[in-house]
Amino acid sequence: MTEDGATRMVQLPSGDRVLPPVPGSRTEPLGQPAPPAEHPPVQGLAVVVGSRPVSAYTELTLEAPDIAQVAQPGQFVAFAVGGPTSAMLLRRSIAIAGVGDGRFSVVVSARAAGSTWLAGLRPGDEVDVVGPLGRPFPLPPEGTPTLLVGGGYGAAALVGLGGLLRSRGHEVAAVVGAGDAARLCSVDDLAAVAAPFVVTTDDGSAGRPGRVTGPVADLVSGAGAVYACGPMPMLAAVAKLATDRGVPSWVAVEESMACGVGVCMTCVLPVVGADGRSRFARSCVEGPVFAGDRVRFADVGTLPPDLVGADAMTLSHTPAVEGETP
Ligand SMILES: Cc1cc2nc3c(=O)[nH]c(=O)nc-3n(C[C@H](O)[C@H](O)[C@H](O)COP(=O)(O)OP(=O)(O)OC[C@H]3O[C@@H](n4cnc5c(N)ncnc54)[C@H](O)[C@@H]3O)c2cc1C
Ligand code: FES
Repeated sequence: MTEDGATRMVQLPSGDRVLPPVPGSRTEPLGQPAPPAEHPPVQGLAVVVGSRPVSAYTELTLEAPDIAQVAQPGQFVAFAVGGPTSAMLLRRSIAIAGVGDGRFSVVVSARAAGSTWLAGLRPGDEVDVVGPLGRPFPLPPEGTPTLLVGGGYGAAALVGLGGLLRSRGHEVAAVVGAGDAARLCSVDDLAAVAAPFVVTTDDGSAGRPGRVTGPVADLVSGAGAVYACGPMPMLAAVAKLATDRGVPSWVAVEESMACGVGVCMTCVLPVVGADGRSRFARSCVEGPVFAGDRVRFADVGTLPPDLVGADAMTLSHTPAVEGETP
């Protein structure tokens, strides 16, 4: 904190930037890559100003104007966890759920050590955070009807997008699902901006019994753009439904991240470029938002034969995801 109580932030290098598409490269109707963020990330101490239980999760609100004022829907932050003497070396990436008045909010699912520590933060605590990180959801052309699909706490990452789309005059439909009622998230926030709005639970304890894919299959044909955040199998299913009907989709993936800033290659997943070639893309800097029809979901976590070797890495070929032939 500075003497006047403001959070001190330190500018970080902006990291890799995707170059413009190569002239003459094939463009495609579905799945343009997510655009680079408009602002580089910063690192500093954020002050916790609110903590409240939200279903099975904890919503934290943090004072960090330098992050809150520039964050775009789809981006995330990375928290240092465990305090100054922590042995937990890796930051924990958490999607930004909302911004306003110099504050941003996140929804934390307490699972193992790091997320449990985060969920235990109380108003007045300070936490070291880097953000906003990653690429935001691309916005659709004016007048495009949209469909948002959230699974579990992933729904929180769609709240800011839903509000932005509505403020720009888009029709917004939404489907929010979870395993059971306790793991539903952001229902009221998304219901406030979306119509139709459908809730599903796998066990039928709230809303329509079953998975989100049922209502998504009904609604996707009326959409011109689909946005999804949630577990990887859900993202794969939603992207397939959209692609099969010729509707572009964007998915915010949650791959394990170590550095969060594009250095370690922990978070890579196979993505098809506009040139038809697949390469490993880093979900922390080339994602976490990817075009749904570009992600090779079936191969995530594997090393497919066509992706063996250094030229399958996008580290020095970031434009490759957009179609450059190295
Ligand atoms: C973009 C993004 C958004 C996310 N948004 C949310 C959110 O909104 N809410 C939420 O609760 N969680 C979110 N997560 C998950 C979150 O980052 C943590 O992974 C999760 O909370 C578990 O953390 P933990 O400390 O409890 O688990 P632990 O098991 O103690 O630690 C998990 C840590 O280890 C890392 N890790 C795991 N496997 C590997 C591996 N093979 N190689 C390198 N590192 C590895 C993880 O990246 C993470 O940093 C998000 C993750 C990403 C990538
Ligand atoms: S987490 Fe290190 S490159 Fe993405």
